Amino acid sequence: MINHPSQTIVLGGASGLIGKALMAALESDGHTVKQLVRRPVKRPDREIFWDPARGEIDAAALEGVDATVHLGGVGIAEHRWTPEFKKQLRDSRVQSTRLLCQTLAELSNKPRVHVNASAIGYYGVRGNEVLTETSPGGTGFLADLCRDWEAATQPAWEAGIRVCQMRIGVVLSTEGGALAKMLTPFRIGAGGVLGTGEQYMSWISLVDVVAAIQFTLDHDPLHGAVNATAPKPVTNLDFTKALGEAVHRPTVIKTPAFAVRMLAGREMAEEMLLGGAKILPARLESEGFVFRCPDIHTALKAELGE
Ligand SMILES: NC(=O)c1ccc[n+]([C@@H]2O[C@H](COP(=O)([O-])OP(=O)(O)OC[C@H]3O[C@@H](n4cnc5c(N)ncnc54)[C@H](OP(=O)(O)O)[C@@H]3O)[C@@H](O)[C@H]2O)c1
Repeated sequence: MINHPSQTIVLGGASGLIGKALMAALESDGHTVKQLVRRPVKRPDREIFWDPARGEIDAAALEGVDATVHLGGVGIAEHRWTPEFKKQLRDSRVQSTRLLCQTLAELSNKPRVHVNASAIGYYGVRGNEVLTETSPGGTGFLADLCRDWEAATQPAWEAGIRVCQMRIGVVLSTEGGALAKMLTPFRIGAGGVLGTGEQYMSWISLVDVVAAIQFTLDHDPLHGAVNATAPKPVTNLDFTKALGEAVHRPTVIKTPAFAVRMLAGREMAEEMLLGGAKILPARLESEGFVFRCPDIHTALKAELGE
């Protein structure tokens, strides 16, 4: 954070894909990062205990910190969407966010800003419609989850803390998430279009999502929803071609919609694989954020370097 040097920033979900990269970036900028940990504290100067499922948090340790970021939640694609797993996806996000934001609201010395993860699932499946932060939310499991997740930050903004909900797109990284999962099939020439290939994928590089969170922490005019997606979303067909080119393999194999539904389960297939949304980062761009990987070719080259 350029305008606020040497801050103390508390990070929930610090062990995850984005969390690890964000922590490294904040520390290399000279900030002190304290992780919220869901196990006994080993380093009291760098860790703060919480157990979101039991509603427990060391509130005293949050007094006087400058900023908080919460990225925690069970991985969306870790498992088929059974009713039990959907409850875990929801509870791990909504309960943890509510606990943290209620606690922040009650502090004597509140942080200046709280940035919370949300996701582009907020918009639902929307075909070719161009969506920005002012577009209405969609329908479906992910849209409902994101709405409740964002609403769980309410106690913090009611208490006067600047709150931003980052509606994060599909993060492209070889370290984890969707791209890491796709790499093996694409590298053996088994990658291809899912369904019609016309569905939009609103993606962002790992380096840009980290930079966007840092920019949001630093940028006082930003509040409320912020789309963390690259300015050039792609269709599944375009993404497939670009990834095939990046790994120098053909992408002729097509997986028909019925097979995607069978493999992933109907609901996850429809909301995450066969359906999509074309989302633009209007707020980041209007505030002057510059993407290092604005298009899919640059992003894949930066990640794969092949
Ligand atoms: N990666 C993407 O493509 C993408 C896209 C859209 C939105 N997002 C959202 O952005 C956030 C960060 O993404 P990510 O890719 O870094 O996720 P990730 O790698 O799956 O990490 C999420 C972190 O959440 C914490 N967590 C796991 N289970 C939990 C539970 N039951 N209760 C509370 N916390 C739990 C863990 O951190 P600790 O063990 O340190 O607590 C975990 O490392 C997530 O909320 C995700 O839904 C990600």
